[in-house]
This record gives sequence, C-alpha cells and structure tokens, in this order.
Amino acid sequence: MTRIAVACSEQGAYYRGMAERHGTPLLILDCHKVLSQYQSLQAALPNVALYYAIKSMPHEAILRTLVTAGAGFDVATVGEIELLQPLADSPRSTIHTHPVKRDADIRAALRYGCTTFVVDNVWELEKFAAFRHRVGLLLRIGFRASNAVVDLSRKFGCQFDEAPLLIRRAANLGLHVKGLSFHVGSQCATGEHHASAIRACRELMSDPSIGDGVPLSILDIGGGFPVDYLESVTTIDRFCEPIRRALSELPGNIQIWAEPGRFLSAPAGTAVSRIMGKARRNGVMWYYLDDGLYGSYSGQLFDHMRYPLQVFSDSKQREAAVIAGPTCDSIDVIAEDIELPPLEIGDLVVGHQMGAYTAASATDFNFFERAKIVAVNAGRGRDSDAVYYATA
Ligand SMILES: Cc1ncc(COP(=O)(O)O)c(C=O)c1O
Repeated sequence: MTRIAVACSEQGAYYRGMAERHGTPLLILDCHKVLSQYQSLQAALPNVALYYAIKSMPHEAILRTLVTAGAGFDVATVGEIELLQPLADSPRSTIHTHPVKRDADIRAALRYGCTTFVVDNVWELEKFAAFRHRVGLLLRIGFRASNAVVDLSRKFGCQFDEAPLLIRRAANLGLHVKGLSFHVGSQCATGEHHASAIRACRELMSDPSIGDGVPLSILDIGGGFPVDYLESVTTIDRFCEPIRRALSELPGNIQIWAEPGRFLSAPAGTAVSRIMGKARRNGVMWYYLDDGLYGSYSGQLFDHMRYPLQVFSDSKQREAAVIAGPTCDSIDVIAEDIELPPLEIGDLVVGHQMGAYTAASATDFNFFERAKIVAVNAGRGRDSDAVYYATA
C-alpha cells in the first residue's frame, strides 16, 4: 500500500518552482542529504571504511559529494569505473564487488588502479591467475537474511563450509585472499543478520589453518542499511547496535569495510511529476503522470519498494483514485486503492525517498523520456543547480 500525504498547496511552491524551471518529469538529487546520510552511517559505524555502491544511483553529483567526504567506492562494471575515473584520483579506495566478472571488467578496473576484487567460486578465482601479482581478493560468503526485502545471497556467495577449500585453491593459484565479504540483503529490517554473519566470519578468520598462515585481514560487511519508505524503520544508530557489538568481538587488526548504496542515495532523491491526463473509470479517478513504472518508479518492480507520495491541495474532499504512469502498458500503475483530493491536469505529484534503484533502472519505453536529473546543494548554491540530462 502506498503512503500518500496531502499538503496544502503553499507547501508545493518549491516543487512548482523547480518544475517550471527544469520541466517534468524531474528527479531532484540533494547532495546535502547524501552527505548527512554518509555522516550518520559513519557515526553509527565508527572505524568502518564506507565504499558507496555506485549501482544504487550512478550519478556524478553524488560521486563528487562522496569523494569530497572521503568515501571509497564499490564498482561492478566498466561503466561505473568510467563514471568514477574523472572524479576520483584515489583508485585504491575502490573495490570491485561483482562476484562474476567479464574479462573487460577486470581489465578496466586494473587499468584504473583498483586492486581489490570479490570472488565466490573457483571459476572466478581462475580468471585472476594471470593477474595474481596485481590483485588481492575478498571471498564472498552467502548468508541469507529472511528479513531483507531484497535477498542477495540466493544468486551470489559461496557456502560457508566451501570457504576453506576456495582459499586453499586460491593459494595454489598463487592468489592472495586478503579477507571475506558478505551482503545479507538490501533494506534489512534489523542488523542481527549482519551480526551473525560477522560472528560466523570471525570463526573462519581466527582459524590458523585457513590461508596457509597468511591471515585474513579484511571483513567487508556489504550493504543492506535501510531507509524509511512506507513505515518508519529504526534509526541507523539503533540498526547498527548489534553490528557494532559483533565487530567489537573481532581482533583489532582486522579492517572493516561496508558497501552502502540505498542508505546514502535513497533519501537524496525526490521525483517531481506532472499529471498529464485524468479519467473517471468505474467511479474511480485515474490520474496519469508523466513518469511511471518504466521511468523513475521502476524500483517498484525491480527493487520491490513503494515510495511515499505527496500531492498539494487545499480541498478537504477525498475520493477513490489511482495514480498511473504514462505508457500504454497496463502494468504501469504507481498506486491503487488510494484516496486523493480532486486534482487537475498540470498538478504535481512528488515521490520521496527515490534516489536509490530508481533512475538507475529507468527505461524510455514508448519514447517517454526519462526524468531529467537536477542536483541541488552540489556545492555551488541553488542558483547554479547542476542539470543532468538522462541518456539512453
Ligand atoms: C555487491 C553489492 N554491494 C552493495 C550493494 C548495495 O546494497 P544496499 O543498497 O542494500 O546498501 C549491492 C546491492 O545490490 C550489491 O550487490
């Protein structure tokens, strides 16, 4: 069920101004918000090095903000490296975390200067034999979190008891496995799954027979840090409490890394769409926006999220309504079984928490153009908002 807020029309002034200035559909990215999310996660996980998962919102303004803040980056493809390369001059603060890589991905990452790669199976290990003097590997272990909205350990991660064998196989190939990684799933309800995965990894890391005497010195605890969509989740400090406790049980010489995506990018994104048409069907008002499930709202399909919506009206009247996207496909419906005040063609509908896994997976099906991305508070003040045009 989608959460809808009706605010008085005066409160929509900022969005109307932005829509007039930049047109719709629009996705506003607030770089201050990225920075404050980064700072609050860093405060909740002191001594953990944060590598932004670029895939969640691969946008230059976010990368620039995080470079300035001192973050590292998690890349998965050649394209992500190409986006990052002109902005960051510290390739050592980059980790390549895709467990299954194309040869071109490995070579591009190495050319950039990234030397840490994640693997989770023997065939992937073999891909690195030719580069063994240039890389250090993290072995990804699968831990399934029943409470995560997006389960990432179905597709990736070796089984826990396979790990010693894979580390031995790496040593036989002359490869250095320098640590372990996991990703318990995205948008987790609690930090308990991270905590139990950390404890399981501690068991492996403290086994002297693992790694032929070369200690595993890095533990990468992945992403999964949640944000508020429909119901409020716990604060990030409370979420990280069990994680901090589990980390405190590790030997002091182990470096801890994390790969947050959603937590840094989601709250920074606000979608501003215009009602381009309306119809009454079986007594229900249908409002058609100029953005939808094939555009910024694609995360409703791919990422299984529902975004808090906001409309602006001074009317006290409410009626049954549907909010749909612009395409000819009937799946392109954003919210049903909702009540709205009467709205007009040209009115705005605003979607909040829309910075992660939204524009990243948008298409231009039907040739409805993707939302224009405007970065605000990017360090140059509102008068110089940076406008970025989506490319196909
Ligand atoms: C390898 C890897 N790291 C980090 C992330 C980011 O996860 P989240 O957005 O839940 O923080 C993902 C998400 O798919 C991922 O696959």
